[in-house]
Parts: sequence; C-alpha cells; structure tokens
Amino acid sequence: MKARIENLLAQIKELKCSNAKEIEEARVRLLGKKGEVTALFEEFRSFSPELKKEFGRTINELKQAAAAKIEELKSTVSQEQVSEGSKEDLSMPGTPFELGSRHPVSIVRQEIVDIFRKFGYDVAEGPEIEDDYHVFEALNFPQNHPARDMQDTFFVSAGHPNPLLLRTHTSSVQVRAMETMKLPIRVICPGRVFRNEAISARAHCIFHQVEGLYIDENVTFADLKQAILLFAREMFGPETQIRMRPSYFPFTEPSSEIDVSCNICHGKGCNICKGTGWLEIMGCGMVDPNVLEASGIDSSKYSGFAFGMGLERIAMLKWQVNDLRHYFENDLRFLSEFKTSIEV
Ligand code: DAH
Repeated sequence: MKARIENLLAQIKELKCSNAKEIEEARVRLLGKKGEVTALFEEFRSFSPELKKEFGRTINELKQAAAAKIEELKSTVSQEQVSEGSKEDLSMPGTPFELGSRHPVSIVRQEIVDIFRKFGYDVAEGPEIEDDYHVFEALNFPQNHPARDMQDTFFVSAGHPNPLLLRTHTSSVQVRAMETMKLPIRVICPGRVFRNEAISARAHCIFHQVEGLYIDENVTFADLKQAILLFAREMFGPETQIRMRPSYFPFTEPSSEIDVSCNICHGKGCNICKGTGWLEIMGCGMVDPNVLEASGIDSSKYSGFAFGMGLERIAMLKWQVNDLRHYFENDLRFLSEFKTSIEV
C-alpha cells in the first residue's frame, strides 16, 4: 500500500498536460469513479482499524495532492491560452465600422434652420396631433373648405365641434406662436405633416414642412420679398433669382407662390425645371388680418408675413431625387448616398 501511494504521489508531481482535454483525462484517471486514487479509497474501507490508522492521513493527502495538481494545471493552461490570444499582431489595421449618415430631409431642415437663425428667427414646434381650431379655424379656413374633408385630412376624433386630427400643415404652429409669444414674433417651425393622399412618386401621406412667421409693426410685402430672396441665395447660391406669382391661401392676403431660378440649367431650361428655367419652392403672403385678430393681435397696429415650404421638395431640387417614396423607405443604398454630407 505504502509503495502504491508513493508511486502515485510521484506520478502526480510529474504530471504535465498541455491542454484542457489532457487535464480532464488525468483527472478521470486519478479521481474519476474508476480512478486510481478512488480505487485506493475503496480498498482502504476494508482495512483493519490499525491499518486505517496507519494509512488514513497519507491516503487523504494523496487525494488532496491530486486535486490540487489538477487545479494548478487548469490555471496554467488557461493563462497560456490567454497569452496565446494576445500574440495577435496589434499593428494590423482594425475592422472598419460603418458610419451612419444623416437623412436628406434632416440635412435640408438643418440648413434652413441655420439660415433663418442668422436672420434672427427662433425655432418653434407644435403638436402633430392638433385640433381643427389651430389647423383650420384660426387660419381663416371657411367652414366647408375641402381641406376639412375626410378625403384630405386624417381625423383622430370626429363628431365634435373641435375634432382632433393629424396636422395637414405646419401653419398651425404659427397660430400657437401668435397665442403664446410676445410681439414682435420671428419664428420658423419645422415639422412633420400628414395628408390623406395615395402614395406615389409625387405624393405621400407623410412629409415635412418649414413654416416661417414674422410679425411686427410696419412689416410690408417688400420685407417678405427681401427675406425670401436672401434665403433663396443662401440656400441655392448667390446668383439665384426669385419670381413671385399671385396665389391664394385662406390665411394670407395677398398671397404668392415663389419660384427660384433653376440651379441646374441657370434659367436656360432643362428637364428638372421642365424647360421653364424656374422651380417652385414655397407659398407665402401677408398674414390675413382675420388670422391676427383670431389670435388676439391688433391688426391695425401689427402686420406680418408668413411662408411655408416642403422639405422633400427642397431636397428633391438639391439632389434631383425624382421619387418621393425614396425618403420614406429607408433603403440603405439611397441613404448612404448622403454620407459625404456628414460632419465628424
Ligand atoms: N400651409 C401651406 C401648405 O401647406 C403652405 C403655406 C403657404 C404656408 C403660404 C404659409 C403661407 O405660411 O403664407 O400648402
């Protein structure tokens, strides 16, 4: 017995393993159910009390030595594996990760906001779920105007004197600005709008607008013209010309549509401007006195102008994107075209 214990102890001391599999095999060989150390314990059970006394300690020490050796081997092998891992060539270039890009509509919105901030305009926002009063009533829409029809507007709650609806334009935010801000008011209001349109290359049920509003004493049509001209030149280049065409909006009087000279053909005529040399970019006008009065502003003392433009339309002109649906489909092939515009 003594000789076997000593022999096993010597084996354990010398034991060497180079990987986890070998360690496990050694553990089974020594301490497993049919292992050599376990077998000694089996024999030990049938020893006489004297023999038990003689060998009890050594046999226990043998078991502890075996278990300790296995643990020691495990820790050295795992350390070696870790240090092998770090033998990688750290000078190798890393795996590049993809940079995201800003959405073209966001890029255009930011440009417009930056331009008008330079002119002293603040940014105002309002709710996308609005009431009939702020979208129509306060903006001088007659009671039976077609825009109030289910065909054009998404209603959230109906059968109500002031139903909730998804705003169809950001002009509602000018009403909120007039109700809450101190005069003079100079704001632009970017935001998402909703209309009950069939989706096609030229129309979508969700799009984005920027509304502008300036109210003070003695604001004239000449101020409106100058503000739009300065904006158009900042946005489309210093050579840009603007053209005003008479138009109609319930909330402005007089009203006008603005065209800018085509920045592709510089007025010669191309397929973007359909041969006219001009591109339509926004609606505008002098705020109707009824609109001022509805929000509690004295129209005999104050006057103002407002304008509104579609962001997808401006982005379309800037990058010649000819299908509105691209803006909403989140196709990475489209979105990644705007990568170069990102500032890092
Ligand atoms: N709200 C108009 C629309 O959605 C755009 C607009 C036109 C806004 C003229 C204005 C404006 O402030 O004066 O089509």
